[in-house]
This record gives sequence, C-alpha cells and structure tokens, in this order.
Amino acid sequence: MSEQTIALVTGANKGIGYEIAAGLGALGWRVGVGARDEERRETAVAKLLAAGADAFGVPLDVTDDASVTDAVRLVEGSSGRLDVLVNNAGITGAAPQLPTSVDPATVRTVVETNVIGVIRVTNAMLPLLRRSPSPRIVNMSSGVGSLTRQTTPGSETGPIAVAYSPSKTFLNAVTVQYAKELQDTNILVNAACPGYCATDLNGFRGVRTPEQGAAIAIRLATLPDDGPTGGFFDDEGEVPW
Ligand SMILES: NC(=O)c1ccc[n+]([C@@H]2O[C@H](COP(=O)([O-])OP(=O)(O)OC[C@H]3O[C@@H](n4cnc5c(N)ncnc54)[C@H](OP(=O)(O)O)[C@@H]3O)[C@@H](O)[C@H]2O)c1
Repeated sequence: MSEQTIALVTGANKGIGYEIAAGLGALGWRVGVGARDEERRETAVAKLLAAGADAFGVPLDVTDDASVTDAVRLVEGSSGRLDVLVNNAGITGAAPQLPTSVDPATVRTVVETNVIGVIRVTNAMLPLLRRSPSPRIVNMSSGVGSLTRQTTPGSETGPIAVAYSPSKTFLNAVTVQYAKELQDTNILVNAACPGYCATDLNGFRGVRTPEQGAAIAIRLATLPDDGPTGGFFDDEGEVPW
C-alpha cells in the first residue's frame, strides 16, 4: 500500500477548499480535488500540479448519490484507500433568509448541501477511510453555526440567515454524533471554523485570505493519533458550540 497520505477535499476548485488542497499537496500528500464543474476542477488540478502538488480531479456533486458513488470508485482505483476527508463544499443559499419570510426550499437546498452532503460523502468514503492507519475527517463549519455566539450580544455573526447559519449548527451536531459513534476507532472527526474569508461565498467581502481560512482545516487534517475528536476549532483553539 502507498506510503503517501491520500486526501480528498470537497469543493476544492476555488476558495478555501482550493487552499486546503494546496496546503495538503505542499505536505507531499496526494490530493483529490472534489468538484462538480469540470472546467473549474481541471483548472484547479492544473494549477496544483504546476505548483508541484500530486493532485487529481474527482468529479463530485455532494448532493448526488451516483456522483458520490463514482467518486468512491475513482479514489479507490487511484489510491486504494483514503486517509483524510475534508468536507468543505458549502453554499449559503439564496437571500434574503429572514425566518419569517424565507422560502422553505432555500432551507432545504442549503441543508441538502451543507449537512446531508457531508453525511452522504462521509458514509460513502468510510470504507476507504477505515483502510487508513490514521483516518481524519474535517467538516468545514462556520462561527455563525455557534449558538453561543449567535446568542451573545455583540458577537459578530453576520446577517440573520435561517438557512445558512443553522445548517452549520446542524453540521456541528452531526460532527459530534460521528465522533461518538467512532470513538472506539482511530478515526478523528472535527469541525473547523475558517473565519471570515474573502471568497465567492460572500462576494469577497471577508477580511481573511482563503489561505488563512484553510489553515485550521489543515491542522485538523494532520492531527496526531492522540488528537481531539468531536470538537469545533478555529486558529485560536476551541470555538464555543
Ligand atoms: N468564506 C467564508 O468566510 C467562510 C466562513 C465560514 C465558513 N465557510 C465555509 O467554508 C467552505 C468553503 O467556502 P468558500 O468560502 O471557500 O466558498 P466558495 O469559494 O464559494 O467555495 C465553495 C465550494 O463548494 C463547492 N460546492 C458547492 N456546492 C457543491 C456541491 N453540491 N457539490 C460539490 N461542490 C460544491 C463549490 O463548487 P462550485 O464552483 O461548483 O460551485 C466551491 O468549490 C464552505 O463550507 C463555507 O460554508 C466559509
């Protein structure tokens, strides 16, 4: 079996996901660039290869069962196992998202990608992760998913967003459930908060670079075997739930 560490990053064609792939590639890892749009995926892979990373494209729509099944086959055929899964793909959903006027379809769409997509991809990839000596799962959450921050006056949690913010709270809760079920295995599963980064997601209004946002995911992807599981972390340490 290959000694090289194998990672898959979902939503890796741009933004924070691309920088996670670049950071893991710089460690000498083989990195799957999970992305649904062929042109953007191949452009990202070419850029990563040019930078010296061992990158490969993985066609992947996290909302699509068949696409996820095909992605498992591709990763298995290419590497035989998976060491690290970074569930980074995410959407904010259509605005406005005031609770009293939101279109329920908006909430459903966001949860389908940000929560169900993570469960779908994780469960499909688990057999490959179980073949790794030190499997890690990193779920890209957000500080806006912290109920403590949402209910603390003066905390910066952005606009009211009844689809996006609760989807990250849901994802945090899902992360805890995975950690509990997997606590007697060698799989560590944690949620990451990248901070407010300038990406397409927010019209590039974020104050941090995508590379800065990627750092916490890279740290959780490279945890030692005695590292934490079932936690929620940013660059400063633990984020309140
Ligand atoms: N930027 C921030 O300030 C911030 C803060 C907190 C948390 N986050 C989280 O960080 C993650 C990355 O966000 P970002 O800021 O880098 O945003 P971004 O630049 O918009 O990137 C999002 C990525 O997710 C992909 N994606 C969306 N739906 C997908 C699907 N169904 N299947 C596969 N890929 C899909 C996008 O692919 P396409 O190109 O095909 O759309 C894109 O590659 C998200 O989970 C986001 O919620 C971001």
